[in-house]
Amino acid sequence: MSTFIKSSIGRKLIMSLSGIFLMLFLLVHLLLNSFLMFDSSGDLFNMGAHFMGTNPMMKVMEPILGLGFLVHILWSVWITIENQKANPVKYAVVDQKNASSWASRNMFVLGSVVFIFLAMHMMHFWYEIKIAHSLAEVEVDGVMMENAYALVSGLFTDATLGLVYSGLYILGAIALGLHLHHAFWSALQTLGWSNIEWRKRLSVVGDIYAVIIAGGFSLIPIYFLIFS
Ligand code: HEM
Repeated sequence: MSTFIKSSIGRKLIMSLSGIFLMLFLLVHLLLNSFLMFDSSGDLFNMGAHFMGTNPMMKVMEPILGLGFLVHILWSVWITIENQKANPVKYAVVDQKNASSWASRNMFVLGSVVFIFLAMHMMHFWYEIKIAHSLAEVEVDGVMMENAYALVSGLFTDATLGLVYSGLYILGAIALGLHLHHAFWSALQTLGWSNIEWRKRLSVVGDIYAVIIAGGFSLIPIYFLIFS
């Protein structure tokens, strides 16, 4: 087992399985976040966030999600160090620029930018909701719940730092999109789902997915900048 994990394919398998799990999470997260733009009273988003925070199935998923991020991040650090040890000198025999895209050659850098974004994002929302319990309550359809809508809209429309936060969220979404542009087909290729014919198709599907994620997450701060 340990020989398999240390092999090139074993290392990639852990990255691709944890990555696919995180890609599915991003779709669900974006769907929930889109509620922010469909109902300016905030009720729709608050009901969605309340469901996600109280549903027993979601409570089980939360630590699994945390583990998924942890494995993906720590594993990427480990394989980057191992690759550096195996290939300490970058020689110019192969024309790397033509052989691969910029995103594929900079997955660790892009992943690190997403990680910095994620740390800031957790402080803004997850910490305030789950740890500090600093949110005011609202009543929606007779049910009392935390006003997560006010927290999100308050951040992006803040009189002093709203523009800065909006810019940082858009930059984070662009870095995430570039990371996913390579990650999508690469993960499927590791699982053996990509031959030469399918590589082209999967990279188009991956690009569509990356644009939806980067565009969708960017649209939210832009929406608040325009409509508030
Ligand atoms: C405009 C962009 C975004 C907004 C407005 C937003 C909003 C939120 C909110 C309100 C929460 C707290 C939910 C709760 O705990 O009830 C949350 C949690 C979270 N977000 Fe985001 N998010 C955005 C982008 C992202 C991106 C791009 C990622 C991933 C790279 C991400 C990853 C997470 C994670 C991992 C959690 C914790 C989930 C949990 O355990 O509940 N978010 N987000």
